[in-house]
Amino acid sequence: MSSRSRRVCPAPDLELHIRTLAMAPKAPCLITDFFFYETAKSVVVKSWSVGIINRVLQLLIILYFISWVFVHEKGHQLHDSGVESSVMTKVKGLGKFGNHVMDVADYVFPPQGGSSFSIITNLITTTNQTQGLCPEIGENFQCSSDTTCEIQIGSNFGSGIITGRCLNDSKLRDGSGRCEIQGWCPVEDDTFEGEPMMEVENFTIFIKNSIRFPIFDVTRSNFPSSLNQSNIHSCNYDPEHNPSCPVFKVGDILRHVNKSLHSIIKSGGEIGINISWKCNLDYNVEKCVPRYFFTCLEAAFEGNRVSKGYNFRFAKYFQTEAGIEHRTLYKAFAIHFEVIVSGNAGKFHTVPFLINLVAMYTSVGLATVFCDIILLNFHKGANEYKAKKFEEVLPCFISLTLTLEFRALVSW
Ligand SMILES: *[C@@H]1O[C@H](CO)[C@@H](O)[C@H](O)[C@H]1NC(C)=O
Repeated sequence: MSSRSRRVCPAPDLELHIRTLAMAPKAPCLITDFFFYETAKSVVVKSWSVGIINRVLQLLIILYFISWVFVHEKGHQLHDSGVESSVMTKVKGLGKFGNHVMDVADYVFPPQGGSSFSIITNLITTTNQTQGLCPEIGENFQCSSDTTCEIQIGSNFGSGIITGRCLNDSKLRDGSGRCEIQGWCPVEDDTFEGEPMMEVENFTIFIKNSIRFPIFDVTRSNFPSSLNQSNIHSCNYDPEHNPSCPVFKVGDILRHVNKSLHSIIKSGGEIGINISWKCNLDYNVEKCVPRYFFTCLEAAFEGNRVSKGYNFRFAKYFQTEAGIEHRTLYKAFAIHFEVIVSGNAGKFHTVPFLINLVAMYTSVGLATVFCDIILLNFHKGANEYKAKKFEEVLPCFISLTLTLEFRALVSW
């Protein structure tokens, strides 16, 4: 550091050097300075202890880079995590709900077979609704006079528009009055509990997933081409014995997320099926196969009291011969499945390899910094080493380094 200025622009006295530079900057000197090659001068310290510390540190740094950066984090590879994916699902199974036999068209919503679908497990049916006036059912709509109901006008929680009248009908359930609504009558009573469709545990979900890693232009599907029709009909996914079978039993999925059928079947729930593609394309592309993980998407709301489960409403409409429109309203409790695809592929590439290699090489130099600190501060004979390492020794170590840095700055 200091040798450069001494060699080209001799300045034995630092202050003098600064003064001359400030007063008349010597351009030719700066330019010639720029084209001189400089190399560091080394001080060899024959100390076993510092030598061993240095080598051990260097070894640790190299081991870290090889084991973590290269082997574990695949630092020599170019990565592609922007996976393009398409998912098709198909549910199979027959269930019984009351006296009804339910097939796929009855219990899968929406019917397209996309990555997000629900299997209805329980239904509350309200038949023969027509437009008209009738009493509301909920506890919140009890009334003794019209004034109680007038407050509720405009409420979003009624089954229809609140008219503001209080109906005092002895036929009502607990004898007290209920506010009148205008809308689809009679109003749905969702306190009724039906017998849920237990057969859902034996239903199967077939998942077809194709992905592409755009950077490497690699396309993969989630089951091997050797899988034929009869295999698909007979196999069942099992993480250990049959990890490549794309057919999942609902009961098995619930077991994977530690949920019992009974806890989910009455009020529904949300399950995530994660398809994770982690591919090392330095190996044979046939080894690029997905792994499946299952998550309970409701887990985040485990402690909440409100909005438990998963339900939605839909209706089927029909007209009588007299032209009056009727509908059957369904409140469906369902297990909602969400197929989530994620992917990450890596392949050897010179740019990340060189960057990490250079990072390793320069990081090995960190050992020197550490050893210098020991040598110049805590080693016996530290002052002698300082004298050898920094040729212009000033009384204070700090002021010395600051001066040297300042000097380098000025001479540039
Ligand atoms: C599901 O299948 C198993 C074995 O085939 C059977 O024992 C069980 O009763 C079925 N579950 C329901 C709810 O039908």
